[in-house]
Amino acid sequence: PEHITVQELANRMAERAADIVKFLMQQGQMVRANDTLDADDAELIVEEFGHTVKRVSEADVETGFISSEDPEESKQPRAPVVAVMGHVDHGKTSLLDALRSTDVAAGEAGGITQHIGAYQVQLKSGDKITFLDTPGHAAFSAMRSRGAQATDIVILVVAADDGVMPQTIEAINHAKASGVPIIVAVNKVDKPDANPDKVLQQLLQYEIVVEQMGGEVQAIPVSALKKQGLEELAEAITLQSEILELKANPDRSAEGVVIESQVDKGRGPVATVLVKRGTLSRGQIVVAGSQWGKVRALVNERGQQMKDAGPSLPAEILGLDGAPEPGELFAVVESESRARELVDYRQRQRRDKSSGMSSGGASLEQMMAK
Ligand code: GTP
Ligand code: MG
Repeated sequence: PEHITVQELANRMAERAADIVKFLMQQGQMVRANDTLDADDAELIVEEFGHTVKRVSEADVETGFISSEDPEESKQPRAPVVAVMGHVDHGKTSLLDALRSTDVAAGEAGGITQHIGAYQVQLKSGDKITFLDTPGHAAFSAMRSRGAQATDIVILVVAADDGVMPQTIEAINHAKASGVPIIVAVNKVDKPDANPDKVLQQLLQYEIVVEQMGGEVQAIPVSALKKQGLEELAEAITLQSEILELKANPDRSAEGVVIESQVDKGRGPVATVLVKRGTLSRGQIVVAGSQWGKVRALVNERGQQMKDAGPSLPAEILGLDGAPEPGELFAVVESESRARELVDYRQRQRRDKSSGMSSGGASLEQMMAK
């Protein structure tokens, strides 16, 4: 059953609800603005008011959201997005801290990374790298999966004293499933019981053949604690990203992926997003999963306000009407009505899914899509 309130229908047509009520009264129907209409009545009203009912397929709505490939000549080089993955406590967060020489691990409750953090660092060479931190804890498999999906390169952190462990293997599988190249960071080489060679041996079992073993995967011995091997690791990332020739069109409306989200007491819903292409600006209207809003502020990982965010740049968005699910896509849309339409569509789809309903036939929302 498809329903729409008189008020909502009026909004969609940019007409006054009172005029619809008046029209229906003339037809002998007594309704108020908050009453719901069925699809037949709604369609009649739409036509009576001189608007057209347009059928839009689900595919149209979806492809309208994530549009087609940009022309090659519009693309410009962009920073690689690198997900740091590996078993719990193997030193992912420490390594990122060492790489950007700020200390996030110290501020984390219990030392376990609860969410994917996202930030961009600039190397001495001027090259930029966007890093995504992921938690190694067994419970966070979904986050690792999404981390690998949003990513160009996976840094597989393996502690040299502990070797390949269950979440190491899981990270390898996520990277392989997403077709993302791996760079191995053999960490904690400062430890007396470190055995980096054993790690490289173990990796063979998972078809990771490192350069030291005659293969093509780069493996860099590092110590996050002693800040050893960091330049070599950064060089390995730069080399790998040059091979990938990463490019995106910055001069279009922004699209990307939600990395994490929360409802902040003071700031309301906050979503960390990663721009994949286009440039996201303050004041634009954004749909993220089944949330939408006008971007009130864009904030970087240091809490500084930004005017806009281009490809590969992570940013916090303020101004959404709720916290979108990590892994959901976001896109800038041209109008509030388009945003509402997409959000309605997604919420309906979700409801249908959760109630086991098949979404046969076009809904009123879809019929009325402009
Ligand atoms: P989760 O996010 O919980 O999966 O852990 P993580 O992989 O981010 O590890 P984290 O960076 O929190 O480090 C875990 C522990 O290993 C901490 O006590 C670090 O101080 C220690 N550690 C990290 N890197 C090194 C290293 O290179 N050498 C030594 N000796 N200890 C290290
Ligand atoms: Mg961590």
